[in-house]
Amino acid sequence: MTRNRRAKLVKIGQMVVESEEAPVPGGNEYLIKITAVGVCGSDVHYFEHGKIGRFVVEAPLVLGHEAAGVIVGAGPGADTARIGHRVAVEPGVPCGRCMQCRSGGYNLCPDVRFLATPPIDGAFADYIVHSADFVYDVPDDLSDEQAALCEPLSVGIWANRRAGVRCGDRVLVTGCGPIGLMAAQVAREFGAHVILSDVVPSRRDAARSLGFDNLHDATSSPVDGSGIVADVLVECTGVADVALRAIKTLTPGGRAVLVGMAPEEEQALPVAVIQSKEIMLTGVFRYANTYPLAIELFHQGRIQVDPIVGARFSLEDVTAALKISRIDPSCIKPMVLPG
Ligand SMILES: NC(=O)c1ccc[n+]([C@@H]2O[C@H](COP(=O)([O-])OP(=O)(O)OC[C@H]3O[C@@H](n4cnc5c(N)ncnc54)[C@H](O)[C@@H]3O)[C@@H](O)[C@H]2O)c1
Ligand SMILES: [Zn+2]
Ligand SMILES: [Zn+2]
Repeated sequence: MTRNRRAKLVKIGQMVVESEEAPVPGGNEYLIKITAVGVCGSDVHYFEHGKIGRFVVEAPLVLGHEAAGVIVGAGPGADTARIGHRVAVEPGVPCGRCMQCRSGGYNLCPDVRFLATPPIDGAFADYIVHSADFVYDVPDDLSDEQAALCEPLSVGIWANRRAGVRCGDRVLVTGCGPIGLMAAQVAREFGAHVILSDVVPSRRDAARSLGFDNLHDATSSPVDGSGIVADVLVECTGVADVALRAIKTLTPGGRAVLVGMAPEEEQALPVAVIQSKEIMLTGVFRYANTYPLAIELFHQGRIQVDPIVGARFSLEDVTAALKISRIDPSCIKPMVLPG
């Protein structure tokens, strides 16, 4: 029997690592030996609150969805030539049949099965099985951590695509967490001038080490009282008041994408500003068709993760990995390395 340790959330604030038999890949699936998994804010949220919106943890749940690994086994119909390949795992497997899937917007598939989203187990484990269509070979020059961080990078790519970011745009990114810092780097690659805002000095320092020098200290002035004028807003704080204010910095004809998820299901918007400036406003939900570009951006050395990855933990220390960002905000993206 191949031993498979899996770190499960058994109740709020309690993770248990259990050793089980490794899963058997089904049709068109691979068995993947996990090498690196990023700890996401959503993992921390499930750990602390046991639910996110309508997703409630009702049975022990393996957390972790930002995963990379090596293909070690193939189920019926999966190409055995890929065994041994290092891969980035796209965590959401959509149904492939509904209208959203068929029109390419598979991130909106109502039947998507997304790792570490109840009741689907995640990747804080030695092994997972995953659809062959949603694992992507990565070149040797990508580290395991970069391969795993194709997931938050994908959120940044999708936000920029949805905002239609073009060369020369002034893009305001509110929030220098992992998502904001990925979105900002993508905006720069799309040719934009990037302005970043955060309240925490160490988060702005991380942005500075990524080469951004147009930084707004949100503790000294609210973003709409700072003189910033932007063509595009990529809101990545999840703070309702920030979205409300940051939309007001947009120039007429500006575009806003709300990435950050506020705890409140409803929030106030500056409707008169949105109308008089004809602001285009949209939410974004995860991403679709982004992994090839994420891998290419890492391959070309255009996206940096060193100032973002804060600390590394074994699977047995997963609880510490889930707690560290609350204790030390300079640890932006903790990684779990099961190997
Ligand atoms: N829409 C999606 O598909 C999607 C996907 C992934 C994450 N998210 C959401 O994106 C958001 C960002 O994720 P993250 O992992 O980077 O979170 P994070 O909490 O690490 O980052 C948020 C950042 O916002 C900063 N911030 C707080 N108040 C601020 C203020 N008033 N002004 C400026 N900055 C402020 C914080 O200091 C922090 O650095 C979260 O709300 C997350 O739930 C959405
Ligand atoms: Zn994530
Ligand atoms: Zn579907």
